[in-house]
Amino acid sequence: MLSNSLNQERPAQKAGFFELAPAKINLALHVVGQRADGYHLLETIVTFADKGDRLHFAPAEADSFHVSGRFGHLLHPTDATQNLVLRARDRLRQALQDAGHEAPPVALHLEKNLPIAAGIGGGSADAAAAIRGLLRLWNAELVEAVLATLALSLGADVPMCLKGEPLLARGIGEEMTPLPMLPSLPVVLGNPLVGVSTPEIFRRLPNKNNDPIGALDGDWMDVLHRLRNDLEPPARLLVPEVEQLSAEIKAEGALLTRMSGSGATCFGIFRNAEAAEHAAANLAAKRPDWYFQAAQTVGA
Ligand code: C5P
Repeated sequence: MLSNSLNQERPAQKAGFFELAPAKINLALHVVGQRADGYHLLETIVTFADKGDRLHFAPAEADSFHVSGRFGHLLHPTDATQNLVLRARDRLRQALQDAGHEAPPVALHLEKNLPIAAGIGGGSADAAAAIRGLLRLWNAELVEAVLATLALSLGADVPMCLKGEPLLARGIGEEMTPLPMLPSLPVVLGNPLVGVSTPEIFRRLPNKNNDPIGALDGDWMDVLHRLRNDLEPPARLLVPEVEQLSAEIKAEGALLTRMSGSGATCFGIFRNAEAAEHAAANLAAKRPDWYFQAAQTVGA
């Protein structure tokens, strides 16, 4: 386990430091088309929780990678082709070395607190945290465009996870507009611990509605009620637990419930932090085999 005495306040050089890899939440997600290569064009309102995985960085004699946390056993820690943290490390190192910058060995430790294949970033959030932390550890910078291309090459959601702030994303997620007016929201995240394959959900999408998100003015809750997640219907067919999960979060007093990304994580927005904490505790007591987490999203 990681020691709590190691934190971000310490100097990077000796003791190491943590980066939070926040859970990504798609508050709304509309599919508006498809590219020639098969990727779907989206419009999505994204925000980030104050809870997530934690990635620890320390200088070392040789590269290493360890995983702990509730969902750590589900990862392939040594497979650089499968693990996005290692892929991010290797590609960033290559990009820096190509630019004549050193990128010495690093000991990485991932505390995997978020469920896997869950629609809340997970691997993408970890990859973004790896990029942020390694740039800090190696005291390096990359020009914005190079960084953006590198992030996108790791996955469609990595660029938005690198931003880590409320935004509207278009394209496959790479065209981003900040939404500084989006308020901080008390939420509960829930997952039935059934992994969902993102390509599978996109394959099962019945029709492309081509219905853009439209104007984002007025009361945020009204806006969010008007919008949807187009990936929710196929996910509900593939994972019947999504319907029950959503209903149970709603029954705890959520003002709105929705699925995030390609699922199966659903979130509820609550009146205040206390109500969210209370709901998460009730839900966890009722379904100890599922994942529940109260959180506050970033924002004004
Ligand atoms: O880029 P990422 O690894 O997140 O995407 C996984 C898969 O999900 C893609 O290979 C593609 O089949 C599907 N996808 C899609 N449209 C998107 C994002 C992902 O069809 N915008």
